[in-house]
Amino acid sequence: MSKPLCFTTAPSFIDAPAGAEPAVADLELCVLRGVGAGQPWPEDRAGQVEIFFCSTPPPNLAAFTALRWLQIESAGFSHLFPLKLGARGITVTNARGVFDCPIAEWNVAMMVNLVRDLRTMIRNQDQGIWDRSPKFSGELRGRTVGLWGYGGIGRETARLAKTLGMKVHVLTRSGRKSRADSTFVPGTGDLEGVLPDRYFDENEKAAFLRELDFLILALPLTAATEGVVGEQELRTLPKGAYLLNPARGPIVQQEALLAVLRDGHLGGAALDTHYHYPMPADHPLWRFPHVILTPHISGTTFSPHFREGLLRIFRENAQRYVAGRPLLNVIAPTDLQ
Ligand SMILES: NC(=O)c1ccc[n+]([C@@H]2O[C@H](COP(=O)([O-])OP(=O)(O)OC[C@H]3O[C@@H](n4cnc5c(N)ncnc54)[C@H](OP(=O)(O)O)[C@@H]3O)[C@@H](O)[C@H]2O)c1
Repeated sequence: MSKPLCFTTAPSFIDAPAGAEPAVADLELCVLRGVGAGQPWPEDRAGQVEIFFCSTPPPNLAAFTALRWLQIESAGFSHLFPLKLGARGITVTNARGVFDCPIAEWNVAMMVNLVRDLRTMIRNQDQGIWDRSPKFSGELRGRTVGLWGYGGIGRETARLAKTLGMKVHVLTRSGRKSRADSTFVPGTGDLEGVLPDRYFDENEKAAFLRELDFLILALPLTAATEGVVGEQELRTLPKGAYLLNPARGPIVQQEALLAVLRDGHLGGAALDTHYHYPMPADHPLWRFPHVILTPHISGTTFSPHFREGLLRIFRENAQRYVAGRPLLNVIAPTDLQ
């Protein structure tokens, strides 16, 4: 019997010398080197291709009539919405789990930076200014961090926050236990959901927000979450609270964010995900002294752990695909619209 054919532009394969690609049993892999993002993929065997492993499917997707499974290299999937893959019966799996640890570390780093106003201290250093203001001595211990979304990133952030003596509050859509089909790094996270001090559901949003020192967004951008954080939500946070967004920019309404930064309701923000890629140099968010902007690097895709982790997910899913077993990290078709 012939093996299912997979086309891939995944770095784990294209960065390996030709002929020395990492082995994946039971699939016929066709590694597409030299095909840039957004370029059409070769169509000579299009009708036989069952699987893509890539960041973004090619613009000539319609030619690949036999496509059944798409494995993407990111956890976020909003770039797939225009393709209507759920409606086409194509199973989509993502890379959730690979990013949990670096993003949880980014979250902790940003909370420390914000609460100690490290940005001002660095500006002072550049100008030789000796300033021992109390605002540089903030601590995390005893503060409350709210995680909106309690998947892989939320759970590993909770684990680190608890070791720092923080209180952890969680707003979840579907309860305490981790989804059984998600991948994660052993020894990290909070599979059973035992770490948070309090849980809130979607009807308790105001109660959740009212008690937070830090709000961290750890949910995907979907039709249901776009703009879900508006001025009302931001103003329900206590004055001086901080917002961290390693998830996706448009979950927060841009004008609302600018308004609460301008009038000082927010104590500051750390934003890794944005409204424009790249962020234009004249965008007002660059100018706030209490905002840290990072260029979508919290997930550190350059780390060797990233490639190993991604390949592990792909291998496991390939074995499952061939055996006809359910895949891991499936994105619900309803979230893909
Ligand atoms: N900056 C970066 O480099 C980077 C890297 C990785 C990920 N991200 C972003 O971070 C997001 C989260 O990643 P993850 O790996 O933690 O994903 P995940 O494991 O799938 O967790 C997402 C969590 O959000 C919850 N959720 C979904 N819709 C919700 C809603 N309407 N209200 C409340 N909770 C909701 C999910 O609940 P259910 O269990 O009910 O589905 C799940 O618990 C990704 O989607 C991506 O956008 C960014």
